[in-house]
Amino acid sequence: MTVTEEGGSTPEGADAGQVLGLRLTSPVVVGSGLLTDQERNIRRLFEGGAGAVVTKTIHPNPGPSGNERLLRLPTGMLNSTTYSRRSVDDWCAMLRRFSDDGLPVIASVHADSPAELADLAERVTASGSGALELGISCLNEEGGGPEDTPERVAAYTEAVRQRTSVPFSVKLAIGERVRERIDAAMASGADAITLSDTIVGLAVDADTGEVRLGGAFGYSGPGIKPLVLAEIFGLRRDGLTVPVMASGGVEDAADVAEYLSVGADAVQVYTALHRNMHATLRGIRRGFDDWLAARGGTVADLVGRSVKRS
Ligand SMILES: Cc1cc2nc3c(=O)[nH]c(=O)nc-3n(C[C@H](O)[C@H](O)[C@H](O)COP(=O)(O)O)c2cc1C
Repeated sequence: MTVTEEGGSTPEGADAGQVLGLRLTSPVVVGSGLLTDQERNIRRLFEGGAGAVVTKTIHPNPGPSGNERLLRLPTGMLNSTTYSRRSVDDWCAMLRRFSDDGLPVIASVHADSPAELADLAERVTASGSGALELGISCLNEEGGGPEDTPERVAAYTEAVRQRTSVPFSVKLAIGERVRERIDAAMASGADAITLSDTIVGLAVDADTGEVRLGGAFGYSGPGIKPLVLAEIFGLRRDGLTVPVMASGGVEDAADVAEYLSVGADAVQVYTALHRNMHATLRGIRRGFDDWLAARGGTVADLVGRSVKRS
């Protein structure tokens, strides 16, 4: 038995599915962000019941630390953050410790070019990391980030696949040509897709007309959940069979069940954890375990059931 901090317990080998070769004790995975930039936090997220944790995106050249801010909105959050400021050496040492302790940490990585990302992926996996997420779709880079085309996705994915054999997911944002971008990632060697990264959002001060945060940045939280649900539902209905980790607006156990129902294999939670990180994660994890136990069956029984019914 794996006993979690809140005293709940999950039978070892309980069928909570697998992603990227990691056997999960829960389909609830903590997504990449500021909260996963520290070893201590990552360890505490596991104590709180995370099935896996994705690190803040590691980048060999994260650029000057600038105007990285968060703005809470009634329906979620805008953030202008980019990449981890920790050095790759620091991350590799940390990832080695996680691997030695058998913790299912997914290293999120990005770089300025496909060749640099392949170098980074090789370094990170040499430090024992058993799974990666390519965080190639961050829109908070200066100028709104590059246009995410299938060709760009293919170039990054292919470069990494050529240099590492560990399983990896490509994280994409919903929006234009998403099916083509997914197909490009899978054809180029990805093992899974994470959907969705933040999407472009803007907030304006009604009194002054001033654009808050100084521009359009990443929008996350409950406001994007129906959009991501619709996208995953549509992709599955159209026959997409690749493993998908859902990401967007999860706040409670019901949200986890909804994402599994439309065909996600695991479900990431991030923005909700900016309020009472530990209690919120424990609530989602335990709430989902209790809900599943009460209705009987396994995670696998839930995956895709909405699509089968439609
Ligand atoms: C403050 C903040 C920082 C984030 N940093 C990263 C990051 O470094 N890499 C990444 O792939 N996604 C990052 N994300 C995106 C989240 O991992 C997640 O995909 C997105 O916010 C949607 O899920 P949510 O609504 O549960 O937050 C960040 C999100 C927020 C709000």
